[in-house]
Amino acid sequence: MAKKKLKIAVLFGGKSAEHEVSLRSAENVINALNKNKYEVILIGINKAGQWILGDKGGKLLDKTNPKLYKLNTVNSDSVALVPQGSGAISNLSNVNSKNYIDVIFPVLHGPFGEDGTVQGMFKLANIPFVGASVLGSAVGMNKDTMKRLLRDADIPICKFITLKHGEKISFKKAKKKLGIPFFIKPANMGSSVGINKVKNKKDFDKAIEEAFKFDTKILIEEFINGREIECSVLGNENPIASVPGEVIVNDEFYSYNTKYIDENGATLEIPANLSQKTIKKIQQLSVKTFKVLNCEGFGRVDGFLTKNGKFYISEINTIPGFTSISMYPKLWEANGLPLPKLLDKLISLAIERFKREQKLKTSI
Ligand SMILES: Nc1ncnc2c1ncn2[C@@H]1O[C@H](COP(=O)(O)OP(=O)(O)O)[C@@H](O)[C@H]1O
Ligand SMILES: [Mg+2]
Repeated sequence: MAKKKLKIAVLFGGKSAEHEVSLRSAENVINALNKNKYEVILIGINKAGQWILGDKGGKLLDKTNPKLYKLNTVNSDSVALVPQGSGAISNLSNVNSKNYIDVIFPVLHGPFGEDGTVQGMFKLANIPFVGASVLGSAVGMNKDTMKRLLRDADIPICKFITLKHGEKISFKKAKKKLGIPFFIKPANMGSSVGINKVKNKKDFDKAIEEAFKFDTKILIEEFINGREIECSVLGNENPIASVPGEVIVNDEFYSYNTKYIDENGATLEIPANLSQKTIKKIQQLSVKTFKVLNCEGFGRVDGFLTKNGKFYISEINTIPGFTSISMYPKLWEANGLPLPKLLDKLISLAIERFKREQKLKTSI
């Protein structure tokens, strides 16, 4: 008898400015999922936040004994929060809910997908899902909080200043603290959206304004002059690191345009041309970063390698790009793990974590 196929829901698109990148990543993931093992269910999220299935109240508190509050679920309807329904709830009691899914694979980038919000929904829905959970996702998305945790763990990072909405700093002060040039970026974004390299006062105000368009918190970062090295990490409690790869940027920096539009903007060197000693150091720091930031499943750790051999961690991506030219899957391929096998591993890690968490006591 044929084994029952696991139903994998691939979630893609989303409300963030990285919607389009997610579509490209998802296409690649969907194509590579082994159809002999999985039934793939497509759920697209449009820019308004509505979930679209691809191809195909009441008296709840029982107060009869005031000392013993308990839920009275008799004759109560089951409801679900409607995503982006401005607080709308849907009555599920009359809905046919047989269409269960086994695992969710979020292929979403940026806010609402990579920041713990949708992960919280998965947890509430009690379903295994690929990648970091609520905390790891939230921390990994927030460059301010992420950098503070890394600093606490003695992981080398650049100097930075954080500004919250309404807070200001003069160009002179920023220059004094960080030197020139420096980078201005939203705390919660990705794909280089809203990021500018600032060299003079003229660019400064514009860059601050631009970053605040995408988030209520922004970072001003010291410029680290180094090679851009990325490392793929995979696993739950005992994660492993791939060989590092290098992004050779033929531009001022690795901007949105360089990443996705200009074909000659950057080239990937896989594996990066590095000494064994440096590879080891980068792998160790990448795994440490992944653990410190509470990540699970997958994560791509990016950093800068300076001329004197120091490796600064720049950031982690808790749902790394999965397009056909993306570094995360390409690095694993270079390690002998082709994309379909990598996806198998990610799905089994999701199930393994779920089973482990199901065993936790919920009463005393
Ligand atoms: N502190 C920095 N020093 C040097 N280059 C930087 C720095 N911060 C950002 N950059 C450049 O901008 C790119 C995008 O910044 P990053 O922080 O990785 O944001 P994102 O999450 O959008 O990818 C980097 O790949 C690098 O080219
Ligand atoms: Mg980056």
